[in-house]
Amino acid sequence: MKDISLDKAYRLLNHGPLILVSTRSAGGDYDIAPIAWNCPVKKSPTTVLAAIGKSHKTYDNIKETGEFIVCVPSAGQADMVKDTGSVSGRNTDKFKEFGIKAGKGKNLDCLVPKGIVGAIECKFKEEYDEGVALVIGEAVRAYGSKEGFIKRVYPENREGRTLHHLGGGDFSADSRDVI
Ligand SMILES: Cc1cc2nc3c(=O)[nH]c(=O)nc-3n(C[C@H](O)[C@H](O)[C@H](O)COP(=O)(O)O)c2cc1C
Repeated sequence: MKDISLDKAYRLLNHGPLILVSTRSAGGDYDIAPIAWNCPVKKSPTTVLAAIGKSHKTYDNIKETGEFIVCVPSAGQADMVKDTGSVSGRNTDKFKEFGIKAGKGKNLDCLVPKGIVGAIECKFKEEYDEGVALVIGEAVRAYGSKEGFIKRVYPENREGRTLHHLGGGDFSADSRDVI
């Protein structure tokens, strides 16, 4: 084994599925941003944690409306991820700027991009301050692509191949090999 510097050690864990957090401001502006640092923390109802920089519009929107949608992009959507992570919703309508086709959430008024593997609509529950905000959300509704989620994420089908952020500008796609 060789040493990994402590500012890169997170990369051993980084590649769970990347999510896009979709939000709406109190004034009704929609936004969406990639959040690589996320994980489930409870099963029933599904409860998730996302580490969100407090300077992000995404954070303000969640605090303003108390809701957000966790969207799991598919492996073919890396460009959308890079685009939406390159600017802030403070000064850009990312859906318009990047031509992202999206529909409304089923319960919540946030936008859900077409072609994703699935989505979890969440109500904000609490947050912990770790410099970044560790935002906890509780699922109120969830849905997945017919071919991409069959009892579990289904990477055997192209629609179920998730995107994983390795750090920097590198991503990998979920493998078709299910062990
Ligand atoms: C691949 C990728 C992963 C990212 N992961 C995170 C993350 O885990 N937490 C975070 O706060 N920002 C993360 N970012 C940065 C935000 O997505 C980015 O700053 C975004 O422009 C914020 O937009 P907003 O101001 O509209 O919320 C990531 C960006 C990229 C491209």
